[in-house]
Amino acid sequence: MRVDCAAAGPSINPPFMVIMVRTGLCRPSGRVKLFCALLCTLALLQYFFGSSVYHVDYNIFQYYWTPTESAALPANDVEQRTVAILVSGAEEALFVARNDSATNDTLTTTSTAVELSATSPMMKAQADNLEQCPLVPPVLVGPIRVWFDYPSYEEMAKLYPYLEPGGHSKPDYCRSRHRVAIIVPYRDRDQHLRGFLHNMHSLLTKQQLDYSIFIVEQQAGQTFNRAKLMNVGFAEASKLYDWQCFIFHDVDLLPEDDRNLYSCPEQPRHMSVAVDKFKYQLPYGSIFGGITALTKQQFEKINGFSNDYWGWGGEDDDLSTRVSLGHYQISRYPTTIARYKMIKHTAEKKNPVNKCRYKLMYKTKQRWLKDGLSNLQYKVLSLELKPLFTRIYADLLEEESLKQLSDSGIKC
Ligand code: UDP
Ligand code: BGC
Ligand code: MN
Repeated sequence: MRVDCAAAGPSINPPFMVIMVRTGLCRPSGRVKLFCALLCTLALLQYFFGSSVYHVDYNIFQYYWTPTESAALPANDVEQRTVAILVSGAEEALFVARNDSATNDTLTTTSTAVELSATSPMMKAQADNLEQCPLVPPVLVGPIRVWFDYPSYEEMAKLYPYLEPGGHSKPDYCRSRHRVAIIVPYRDRDQHLRGFLHNMHSLLTKQQLDYSIFIVEQQAGQTFNRAKLMNVGFAEASKLYDWQCFIFHDVDLLPEDDRNLYSCPEQPRHMSVAVDKFKYQLPYGSIFGGITALTKQQFEKINGFSNDYWGWGGEDDDLSTRVSLGHYQISRYPTTIARYKMIKHTAEKKNPVNKCRYKLMYKTKQRWLKDGLSNLQYKVLSLELKPLFTRIYADLLEEESLKQLSDSGIKC
């Protein structure tokens, strides 16, 4: 005799329930029939109006750290040479030319317009006579305490006195295996930013990385565009130093385990696997939001993020599709390591859900090669090497960009 589906229901997951009903393994009660009808309608809606993302054949696998991933990265080849360091203050810009090979730095300051398109690396590379750092940083302990105190910038400058201009840090006793730019999209979350810097500088130093933190902020008044900020961060950070690896990082995610290495493995890595907000579970298999790590080559091959997602949602799913279209596979640390706390916040009122996101996501496959790094347009309004981070403030040209999108047939 068949069991009543309602009785078996609560312990069975929804897709499996549908199979049981369809194959006659259980007898549907009125409530179950209604539930199945609802589920089918949702599935049909998703199929016709939902994202093309879900139709891409993902081959996601859990990725465990192996010694070869670090060894595979090329050696640091940036020469020690005369470099220009650009420092811009709140009121006026200073152009500082510094001769790194001299013991006494010669500083020349001028208040003329800042040359923002300088091409030589402007952060100082590690000495090349150092021995490589060990494959596994020796001071890692596993689970770490997340700090929810929010020191002032002045306090932090004292806590992390070894940071170089722009929040650049690298060990002085061994050659880092990874040169990593952390790119953070940012607007109006001062407390989050202080919490983020405090937790991250302490962790990244322990991981013996050659890294810097880039806070990318868009001109006030424009609709928030997380993805385009990431592209701007990538482009600008690349002008300052020879980064191998880019980690695109929400400002409100704080790591709970120091074995979660901030480096780039052979495949693009999704880092925020287990987040407290999602009960430490992956919400869906193709998710690629929160924090992602890609090598420079990988990011260039997938043409970066799309520039066209204004408002909340979808831009990370679009990136996930690009990873797949670039013939990469998303890699992940296990949930015991890739754990994060999200600083509590409500849905951002000033960042409304992007109603256009499904239209765009449906077309990623047609658009990805012409929408991204290849057609990135913005204006840098200021670039400052601050003590704890590099701040990039940019006009994302929202109006022009929306007009181009509309001309291409996508009305948002
Ligand atoms: N963000 C920001 N200010 C905003 C909206 C977003 O700084 O007004 C940045 C910030 O880095 C944040 C990320 O964009 O962590 C993602 O936005 P949000 O946290 O609102 O989205 P969630 O992932 O929590 O849904
Ligand atoms: C959105 C993503 C978001 C995810 C988790 C999806 O529906 O499209 O942008 O990261 O939900 O919140
Ligand atoms: Mn958040």
